[in-house]
Amino acid sequence: MNKQKKQQDEKPRVFSGVQPTGILHIGNYIGALKVWVENQDLYDNIFCIVDLHAITIPEAINPKDLKQQVREVAAMYLACGIDPKKSTIFVQSEVPSHSELAWILNCVTPISWLEKMTQYKSKSGKQKTVNAGLLNYPVLMAADILLYETDIVPVGEDQKQHVELSRDIARRFNSLFGTTLKIPKSMIRKSGARIMGLDNPLQKMSKSAAIKKNDHAIMLTDSPEIIRKKISKAVTDANGEISFRKASPGVKNLLTIHETFSGKPTLEIEEYFKGKGYGFLKKEVAEVVINEIRPIQEKYFQILNDKPYLEKVLEQGKSRALGLSNIVLRNVKNQIGLS
Ligand code: AMP
Ligand code: TRP
Repeated sequence: MNKQKKQQDEKPRVFSGVQPTGILHIGNYIGALKVWVENQDLYDNIFCIVDLHAITIPEAINPKDLKQQVREVAAMYLACGIDPKKSTIFVQSEVPSHSELAWILNCVTPISWLEKMTQYKSKSGKQKTVNAGLLNYPVLMAADILLYETDIVPVGEDQKQHVELSRDIARRFNSLFGTTLKIPKSMIRKSGARIMGLDNPLQKMSKSAAIKKNDHAIMLTDSPEIIRKKISKAVTDANGEISFRKASPGVKNLLTIHETFSGKPTLEIEEYFKGKGYGFLKKEVAEVVINEIRPIQEKYFQILNDKPYLEKVLEQGKSRALGLSNIVLRNVKNQIGLS
């Protein structure tokens, strides 16, 4: 066994993923990727590009673009600091065990559990026809997580309910067929787990809203000028209070973005902005964001143009994911009496 593999096998396992439904925004970065990178040395990490989840909203997908979007997310993982020597990166649809385990788990998951999911309720409300894939989305997510005997799932707050459901599905399988699946836990940062839209601080920052409204989100590929412009237009209020506790949702969102990017304590930030106006706050927020994402952008475009490197990383990731996932899938099939 080589040294890298031995070290990986001894650490608790992390699994997480992002859908390749467009360029990532700072909400994805703060809620997910930054947490992954910061904890990378502590765990055996598996990061997936979940393209089978992306096709649950068919109108958001252009078949001609999907493969490129997958590459873009992979390049962004690497640019943000995911190191293929420490983490496995792979594409969900290239590892068939995910669909296979999802089917088996569908057969032990009550529909009523799925109908209760907040994300299903909000997404299905926007669809003319609700496909079964949208309802079963969290079962596929449970399969992703459970296939790798995952200990920890670092995600933004919106995914907490789905991780809870994965735990419930695993427990139900274990109680019906004998202990087979490991029960995972979510990891959610205290501050910044739900970054809000700049144009509407009552709505979560999301890729789908960013496509419809230009000033909704800061995309990780936005130029410094665009970032300054978008933040200067962010919704605030008329009361002028720069405090984490008392500020309106828009101002609190800007303060939270500052806190997560600058890494400074909240009291120090409040002291710094005391007596200053929102114009100053917005300029400073823009600068901390630009400073952190500028080097990421440089790496991103470099990696995206290096097709052989990207392919090598994804090929290595696929090979490890195939091996690991087969073990759990075999156990599950065995327990349930399938050959
Ligand atoms: P998605 O773009 O839906 O595939 O989300 C990828 C990851 O980013 C998940 O862990 C989400 O919970 C996280 N995420 C998405 N939007 C936000 C947000 N506005 N604030 C914090 N985390 C987010
Ligand atoms: N549903 C997650 C999201 O939209 C993406 C995802 C799919 C995921 N499978 C996962 C996240 C497994 C963590 C673990 O953000």
